[in-house]
Amino acid sequence: MTIRSEILGCGSYLPERIVTNEELSATVDTTDEWIRSRTGIGQRHIAADGENTSDLAFAAAQRAIEHAGIDVADIDLVICATATPDNTFPSTAAKVQHRLGMTQGAAFDIQAVCSGFVYGLAVADNFIRAGQAKTVVLIGAETFSRILDWNDRGTCVLFGDGAGAVVMRAMDEDETSASGGNGQGHNSGRGVLSTHIHSDGTHYDILYVDGGPSTTQTVGHLRMNGKEVFRHAVKNLASIVDEALEANNLERSDLDWLVPHQANKRIIDSTAKKLGMSVDNVILTVDKHANTSAASIPLALDVAVKDGRIKRGDLILLEAMGGGLTWGAGLVRW
Ligand code: ACO
Repeated sequence: MTIRSEILGCGSYLPERIVTNEELSATVDTTDEWIRSRTGIGQRHIAADGENTSDLAFAAAQRAIEHAGIDVADIDLVICATATPDNTFPSTAAKVQHRLGMTQGAAFDIQAVCSGFVYGLAVADNFIRAGQAKTVVLIGAETFSRILDWNDRGTCVLFGDGAGAVVMRAMDEDETSASGGNGQGHNSGRGVLSTHIHSDGTHYDILYVDGGPSTTQTVGHLRMNGKEVFRHAVKNLASIVDEALEANNLERSDLDWLVPHQANKRIIDSTAKKLGMSVDNVILTVDKHANTSAASIPLALDVAVKDGRIKRGDLILLEAMGGGLTWGAGLVRW
């Protein structure tokens, strides 16, 4: 019997407060036109005072568990991808585990910034394939508003807060083939077909936070060389999508949906163009959510599953790049 992970359900949560570009331009030297034309962003959600990453993560996890129709008692692993944890320690995942009423299983955070969800997918999938976990709640949750320098117009306009989650469960590969896909063999059944992750620390200083417990004993603020990040994103994402397709003997034309990390519409357009995909097959939420780092992919996924665009059996490519640099992709048959 070959085990793979199926995604049983998803959920997401966005803080109530929406800040539009116009509203931002009252306090930051910027314009709606500049932000929209450079990034595609129109607004972002910002967490309320006292509303922390674990609150967003918990709400998204609860919704994913409900959508999946599973019992909390069945969960044996909670993973939270975040670069903005509530505290330096313990992990945000452990807080969520507690609020879910779990005392069983394990919980830990993953830190790969904007690639966090794809890294988490790889870790969760490998735990399941190795037989070390059967039911995993994987969350991407961030409150980037807390690490932005609101005097730096080059970065503060780009990010927002939010959380998304999926429930993954171990399944016999033969069973997944019977319930989805349209052919024979490894890539025909439902579930995570493969994950691919990379990092290259050479470029850590083009996107980083200038603080931390070991260096400054402060939280610090996000710093970025936007042009360099853009250049690396386009290059790395182009290579990772090819890597994912080749590993599964699939063609670009086999893909039904691209669910990219929502950093910037221009970066997403460039990946879609490389894949020869129409904009109609790209899930785009950056206009409404801005860049929510590790939360952006599960947030976008949840929007498209709940509005009926993504259906059982569809082939989905997830991809992201972020600070580190880190980048990765996952191929999933929904
Ligand atoms: N409003 C108005 N003007 C601005 C703003 C703003 N918010 N921000 C910068 N400017 C000005 C600059 O001061 C500069 O003015 P100058 O010419 O008088 O000096 C001018 O706009 C051009 O600045 P650049 O930084 O060169 O602008 P660029 O065209 O490169 O666009 C951007 C900046 C949008 C950040 C772009 O580089 C980009 O998209 N980079 C990718 C970054 C990204 O997506 N990061 C997310 C994290 S990583 C990830 O998730 C993949």
